Amino acid sequence: MTRKNRANFGSKIGVILASAGSAVGLGNIWRFPFEAGNHGGGTFIVVYIFCVLLLGLPVMIAEFIIGRNARANTARAYQKLAPKTAWKWVGRLGVLTGCLILGYYAVVAGWTLEYIMQAVFNQFKGQQAGDFIAAFNQFSTNSWRPLIWLFLFLLGTHFIIVKGVEKGIERASKILMPSLFILLIILVICSISLPGAEKGITFLFKPDLSKVNSELILAAMGQAFFSLSLGMGCLCTYASYFSKHTDLTKTALSVGVIDSIVAVLAGLMIFPAAFAVGIQPDAGPSLIFITLPNVFQQAFGNFPVIAYLASVLFYILLAAAALTSTISLHEVVTAYLHEEFKFTRGKAARIVTTVCLVLGFFASLSLGALDNLKIVGLNFFEGLDFLTAKIMLPISGMLTASFVGWYLDKKIVWGELTNSNTIKAPLFKIIIFLLKFVAPTGIAFIFINEIGLLNL
Ligand code: TRP
Repeated sequence: MTRKNRANFGSKIGVILASAGSAVGLGNIWRFPFEAGNHGGGTFIVVYIFCVLLLGLPVMIAEFIIGRNARANTARAYQKLAPKTAWKWVGRLGVLTGCLILGYYAVVAGWTLEYIMQAVFNQFKGQQAGDFIAAFNQFSTNSWRPLIWLFLFLLGTHFIIVKGVEKGIERASKILMPSLFILLIILVICSISLPGAEKGITFLFKPDLSKVNSELILAAMGQAFFSLSLGMGCLCTYASYFSKHTDLTKTALSVGVIDSIVAVLAGLMIFPAAFAVGIQPDAGPSLIFITLPNVFQQAFGNFPVIAYLASVLFYILLAAAALTSTISLHEVVTAYLHEEFKFTRGKAARIVTTVCLVLGFFASLSLGALDNLKIVGLNFFEGLDFLTAKIMLPISGMLTASFVGWYLDKKIVWGELTNSNTIKAPLFKIIIFLLKFVAPTGIAFIFINEIGLLNL
């Protein structure tokens, strides 16, 4: 593919919103709260922020540099920048990771559609906390309902991917992202004004550093990579559509800040509400699907119309946030098949959708009918999550950082960070230092420690 016939994002704000659209998704609103809940709340958040700053942002900048310089799908990008070396496997690993993530991510994305329907048909009305728990369990272990939603969600993703980069991805992100942000703030205000909400705020913001252990650090690192869409060439692929005027450092900082704010807002929306109604913060993947309907009922109990509108709108926006992320996951794999195997975009997309449908099928059923289907000792759904977020993403993040920090010619890095000497890059030295030393050794250290070799 030459520079000319490759698609591009149309505007600067489009670049930021599309990248932030990829980053902001179920990772922030569904995964962050339950990981934080499982690991002590405030303690997790502190470690998480360190992971974003020291590991996540440098790796994001590295992906941007690789993608924009090579202007190719992620596997080809490594091949172009490091011909005839094994580096191309980092790109290929990313493509595989993307498929695996999309396989279970789309299941949860499908759940948001079910909740849109329940909200539209006003099924939350008059229900109590216990009813929401029972309803969620009944739904998620049902054999066919989640599968239908999974199918519809993947179909929607497929449709946008086939429409192409600028018209599909960019236009959708521009409208949906800001709306989600506004609604989130309104819901935070409702949640923290519920009686008994203070406990949730304390849980979220009061770190207890004596509770930091290697499992928590691995979880926080995995969450940082997952939430920022790193370690599978996703932002690398998006960067291949950036213009030569895009300021890579600023874009990375904006995406990191937006993503972290949305995650913390999601925590602020969920924990006060969870404590207010007596739901344990470590409820796991069901957390938001149980606490939120409750918030709508409790907070707006006296104003049924508002309760109704808020819940419908929230699930629509959650589905939209998930959609801008599934698009980005799908795009990586589609771009790879399209450019490497010369399939048409349509055919490439059909293959990806089918593979993810099959993975999603097993992931979804492993929560109910097929609960004895296991990988790495967890059910298939949790196994996919563990394998991708806590192992594959950090490993390929470590390799990406090393690639730019050690292998890539510094002139290329400088050229990309300064847009060929047209803008300043005051953070150049810090970025190189983080990429060379901090990110690779930090990630390796966390792994070795978690495996138990160091026993710190
Ligand atoms: N970051 C997205 C979220 O938070 C999910 C996602 C999209 C992702 N693209 C990715 C995760 C690439 C890891 C790698 O919901």
